[in-house]
Amino acid sequence: MIPRRAVVAGLLTALTCATATAAEPSAARKAELAILLSQDCGSCHGLTRHGGLGSPLTAEALRGQDDSVLATVIRDGLPGKPMPPWGPLLSDSDIDWLIHLLRETPP
Ligand code: HEC
Repeated sequence: MIPRRAVVAGLLTALTCATATAAEPSAARKAELAILLSQDCGSCHGLTRHGGLGSPLTAEALRGQDDSVLATVIRDGLPGKPMPPWGPLLSDSDIDWLIHLLRETPP
């Protein structure tokens, strides 16, 4: 006989996993994304995100731009420009978190 509490815990785990794609990245993943942002994105957009080969990505520069438009650019890249598609490396929740970092945290 399986204790009822174990069944409930199992169900909760199943539910959490089912919604994992929409949830925030784990703490470890967030740390990786912060490094990616400064090192990989920063190599083109500037370490302080004030622009370089890529356009400025400061909170100021992105004000007025829609999250969904930014997410599409990050996921699919910009054909004809050096901005690469990150979709193969980043999940949708990773990309949402990067946009959150761009808007909310100073470089
Ligand atoms: C190889 C260089 C390169 C790398 C690496 C790069 N970008 Fe870009 N990015 C560009 C260029 C070039 C543009 C287009 C600038 C323009 O419009 O002239 C761009 C445009 C963008 C835009 C649209 C900006 C706007 O104002 O519409 C966003 C958002 C963006 N990049 C985010 C990122 C993120 C996040 C990363 C890291 C995951 C990243 N980029 C990595 C070169 C790069």
